[in-house]
Amino acid sequence: MFTPVRICPSILSADFAHLGDDVATVAAAGAGYIHIDVMDGHFVPNLTMGVPVVKQLKRCTDVPLDVHLMISNPLTQLPWFIEAGADMLTVHAEAVDEQGLADAVRLIRDAGVQAAVAVKPATPISAVAPVIEEVDMVLVMSVEPGFSGQSYLEGSEDKVAEVVRMARERGCAPLIQVDGGIGRETAPRVCACGADLLVCGNAVFGADDPAQALRDIQTCGQRARKEGAA
Ligand code: DX5
Ligand code: ZN
Repeated sequence: MFTPVRICPSILSADFAHLGDDVATVAAAGAGYIHIDVMDGHFVPNLTMGVPVVKQLKRCTDVPLDVHLMISNPLTQLPWFIEAGADMLTVHAEAVDEQGLADAVRLIRDAGVQAAVAVKPATPISAVAPVIEEVDMVLVMSVEPGFSGQSYLEGSEDKVAEVVRMARERGCAPLIQVDGGIGRETAPRVCACGADLLVCGNAVFGADDPAQALRDIQTCGQRARKEGAA
């Protein structure tokens, strides 16, 4: 079955003084998820937002909330994000040990929320192997996590292809999301290798017309994906 490419605008690049308006704009343009970057100033150097933002956004949009946890203690905080209304919760493989990752995925799924595992650029895809059959999504970071507006790291598309291969071998089909430096030029490259979901911060909210930018990136990603699958 062919899965359409969907865009997950990252609100880290939105205007926080008008967050509701920015979210409404990308929702009307067809955003697949709203991507929320939670950073704790410890797992990554930057400090961003947390549970209260998820709770507030849940009240103002019907678009599912995709919460990317860049925090050192996901097992402690997961219940709070579940309670706040997250629809997808992503835990970094580097933040926990193998047992902790399995426990996190089970905790999320038992709550009826979609579970995902993320890997930093230097982390091999083998780190997701123990949970690939249990997760709804694998997130391949194409920049070092911590800041929006960075340049796409060359070769990240090879990691997308590796996830596709591993999933095929195991007979499972998690969604594959790519995050960092994704725009009109890089979207086709990752989609040709099998990416389903594209996180876009700067390329959407930094554009003169965010709705048009979202649709353009989606269209060129979708085209490349069809060609890649052909
Ligand atoms: C980086 C975050 C990203 C970031 C993407 O650590 O996980 O979601 O906001 O921003 P762009 O698309 O501008 O690279
Ligand atoms: Zn992110």
